[in-house]
Amino acid sequence: MSGLDEVRALREAALAQVEAADDADGVERLRIEWLGRKAGRIPALMKAIPSLPPAERGPFGQAVNDLKAAVTARLEARKAALETARPHAAAVDVTLPGRRPAFGRLHPLSRTVREMSDIFGRLGFEVVEGPEVEDEFHNFVGLNIPPAHPARDPLDNYYLGDHVLLRTQTSTVQVRIMESRRPPVRVVAPGRVYRPDTVDAGHSNMFHQLEGLWVDRGVTFADLKGVLSTFARAFFGPAARTKFQPSYFPFTEPSAEMYVSCLLCGGAGCPTCKRSGWIEILGCGMVDPNVFEAVGYDAEAYTGLAFGFGLDRCAMLKYGIHDIRLLFEDDVRFLRQF
Ligand code: DAH
Repeated sequence: MSGLDEVRALREAALAQVEAADDADGVERLRIEWLGRKAGRIPALMKAIPSLPPAERGPFGQAVNDLKAAVTARLEARKAALETARPHAAAVDVTLPGRRPAFGRLHPLSRTVREMSDIFGRLGFEVVEGPEVEDEFHNFVGLNIPPAHPARDPLDNYYLGDHVLLRTQTSTVQVRIMESRRPPVRVVAPGRVYRPDTVDAGHSNMFHQLEGLWVDRGVTFADLKGVLSTFARAFFGPAARTKFQPSYFPFTEPSAEMYVSCLLCGGAGCPTCKRSGWIEILGCGMVDPNVFEAVGYDAEAYTGLAFGFGLDRCAMLKYGIHDIRLLFEDDVRFLRQF
């Protein structure tokens, strides 16, 4: 066998061995065996070159150089391939227990909106929505709130520009719905409202309300009491009692506030209900004829009932939450409890 044939045979053997190496240690052992400075097989061939007949030195030396380059390249490639394969192989340990997926759940306010929508749905109310950025007509004028009314003070509202503000109440949706539909109308509108209040345990400058409106021929104050008392028992539980107290709102006449018996003390009196046994949860009344006029409804033919309440407050009462800020901080230790 000539020297060149020998080199060719060695090349095949070396490359086959490298391909068969199945870990980094195996590759390293082959590197030492073939390329090692002291006892490597390829350096040994190089050392033999000077003893060859002069005519053979050139071609043989070239062949050995090629062999060295080929083996070096193949060792590198094998090492790289084993390294990229390794984390993959380690990623699946079939003996470990499965990873439990983290189940999400509804935020207590989302849950409250759904429960309330469900209750009012059974009472024949459709759920509608309105914009949070409003104009003065829908937030004030259409609701019979004149320019001089204290509620329109720029310090009590988030004005975004001339005559444009973040709505301070969901009553805006009453006006929008009546502008766009003819009676009968029976809707509830949950949503966010904004007021520049100082934030504390009971106040937030963004909170939620749910508005209700029912307009038809012959709707009476008895319907108002019936709808709201039924709602209170469905939402707070059969033991909840209600009482109505005269009040004033520009967009209803007559107007009232509804109280529910305190859920925490059962009506006996506690700090939450300020020892009265009652908690005010909403404003309500019969739609003022001026509001009907603003939206083009015939105030002689139709009557309507309206109500609006703080959704956050109802959720807090029902679930025993003592600080409204917890609802908006999104701390999972709090949210996980619902
Ligand atoms: N919009 C009132 C508020 O934010 C609540 C309210 C009172 C809504 C009486 C009504 C209503 O629809 O009839 O304080």
